[in-house]
Amino acid sequence: MSVTAALTRGAMLYEGKAKMVFATDNPELCVVLYKDDATALNGLKKGRIAGKGAINNRVTNHLMRLLESRGIPTHLVDELGDRETLVKRVTIIPLEVIARNIAAGSLAKRLGIPEGVPMKRTVVEYCYKDDALGDPMVNESHIIAMGWSDEAELESISSLSLKINEILKDYLSGAGLTLVDFKLEFGRLPGGGIVLADEISPDTCRLWDAKTGERLDKDRFRRDLGGVEEAYAEISARLLGVS
Ligand code: TMP
Repeated sequence: MSVTAALTRGAMLYEGKAKMVFATDNPELCVVLYKDDATALNGLKKGRIAGKGAINNRVTNHLMRLLESRGIPTHLVDELGDRETLVKRVTIIPLEVIARNIAAGSLAKRLGIPEGVPMKRTVVEYCYKDDALGDPMVNESHIIAMGWSDEAELESISSLSLKINEILKDYLSGAGLTLVDFKLEFGRLPGGGIVLADEISPDTCRLWDAKTGERLDKDRFRRDLGGVEEAYAEISARLLGVS
């Protein structure tokens, strides 16, 4: 039996909107379980997307393996099953890092730009992770002033995010997908250093069909566009060869 197969799932440490996190008998590892539950508008809109948990688990691990192979450190240890993955236990840095290649979503709304307009460079934004405050956008000086991160760590977060963007944009374009924007989270390891954590999936990325512009991500749920399950299945088929 492999080391990871011998691990037992312990107490639930955390339940979020789309995932649960469990302790294991190894204090350095935990298990993430992906749910089919979907929320939008900071939890105001709730629903279920059949099969989403398994697709997001598999797609996330697939993309994290790709990133690892290109020198990006991630929390991934081992895919345990359809919806469950063993990851390194980290302290999540309380920031959502958003990288944008094409204007869409909240940026398009805030700046009055039509969705789909390419931008002259990749935009990186930070939001402070706090549901009660609605994850407000903050800048680097807020982050350092509040002690959520420091200058050196933030420099790593920003350069890793730009490198991740280049790797994912290129890889996804090979699958006929345009990476419009996405959200990342990073975690601190107990021994120091940061790794990419959380997920990279159609929940956390805007993915448009490169030819037709069709939305193949959670915007179908957020905006009541229909065909939600089909969009997730299409991403699974294009990236993993299974739907
Ligand atoms: P936004 O345009 O709504 O700010 O979203 C930008 C990207 O970040 C989009 O791909 C969706 C993703 N995202 C999350 O994964 N979680 C969030 O809480 C938010 C606000 C955005």
